[in-house]
Parts: sequence; C-alpha cells; structure tokens
Amino acid sequence: MQEYLSKSPAETEAFGKKLGEKLNPGSVIALYGGMGAGKTALTRGIASGLGIAQGVSSPTFALVHEYEGRLTVYHFDMYRVESWDDLYSTGFFDYLDTGGVMIIEWSENIEGAIPDNAIRIHLRQGETENERILSCEGVNV
Ligand SMILES: Nc1ncnc2c1ncn2[C@@H]1O[C@H](COP(=O)(O)OP(=O)(O)OP(=O)(O)O)[C@@H](O)[C@H]1O
Ligand SMILES: [Mg+2]
Repeated sequence: MQEYLSKSPAETEAFGKKLGEKLNPGSVIALYGGMGAGKTALTRGIASGLGIAQGVSSPTFALVHEYEGRLTVYHFDMYRVESWDDLYSTGFFDYLDTGGVMIIEWSENIEGAIPDNAIRIHLRQGETENERILSCEGVNV
C-alpha cells in the first residue's frame, strides 16, 4: 500500500495525473471517502493523465459521465446507489470489460461489485483543512 500526503487540490490532481499516465485498458479505480474528500479532484487529474482536457465534474445526477482520451473513461458516482437494481440501472456491468477505464466515486456503496483486481484509493482529511491522505492499493504511483 502507498500513502500520499496532498497539501492542496493541485497536488491531488498532479498525483491523479501520474496515475492516469500509467493506466491500462480495463483499469477499475475505486474511490472511497466522504463528501469533499477530493474524489472528483483526483478524477480530474486521472483524466488529465489520459489526455482528457474537458471539464470533469461529479456525475451525481447523471450517475455516469463518459470522456474520450488515450482511453475512454467512465466516471461513476454511486452516492445515490442503494441496491443491486440501482447499480444495474447505471449500466455499471455493461461498462466492465469494454476496455475503458472505470473511475467510481462512493465505492463504499457498491463494495460487493468492485472487481478483486481494482485499484482502491481511500481519501481522508489530514491534520489541516487542505491536507488529504490518499491510501492506494493495487498500484504504485
Ligand atoms: N488536498 C486537497 N485535495 C483535494 N481537494 C482539496 C484539498 N484541499 C482542499 N480541497 C477541497 O476539497 C474539495 C474536494 O472536492 P471534490 O468535489 O473533489 O470532493 P468529492 O470527494 O468528489 O466530494 P463528493 O462526494 O461531494 O463528490 C474541494 O472544494 C477542494 O477545493
Ligand atoms: Mg465528487
């Protein structure tokens, strides 16, 4: 496991960018951590590392946003997903194995559906307001 201490949104994005540059087709990135933890900021960085310049925002209402870069990115927000039926209706299972990269906010809500080989990143607040600790399993950034 790798722990990274970020001291600003820009550092979180830069860390995400390095990760994005390393990703392979079919990578699944499961993000954990409550509101404001920095999941979308990290996703913005990952997308940038994949050559995606367009604005990345939380897909809270759409549930999934799609971006085209070196690889296609499917960005999910599982905040409102409470059941397997909900999960099926996001199309989650249809996107697995398409060769795209899946980035999943609120993975806590769908833990049973996260593939074993996923990259898991837990984000939590550090000692000061702008510090975030990123704990990464399944990858070395
Ligand atoms: N080191 C940091 N890394 C990332 N974000 C930070 C950091 N320090 C402060 N912030 C602030 O925390 C907030 C993170 O917002 P972001 O939308 O990325 O969170 P989120 O985890 O996606 O939340 P939500 O669950 O509501 O979607 C932003 O307002 C950002 O400016
Ligand atoms: Mg978000």
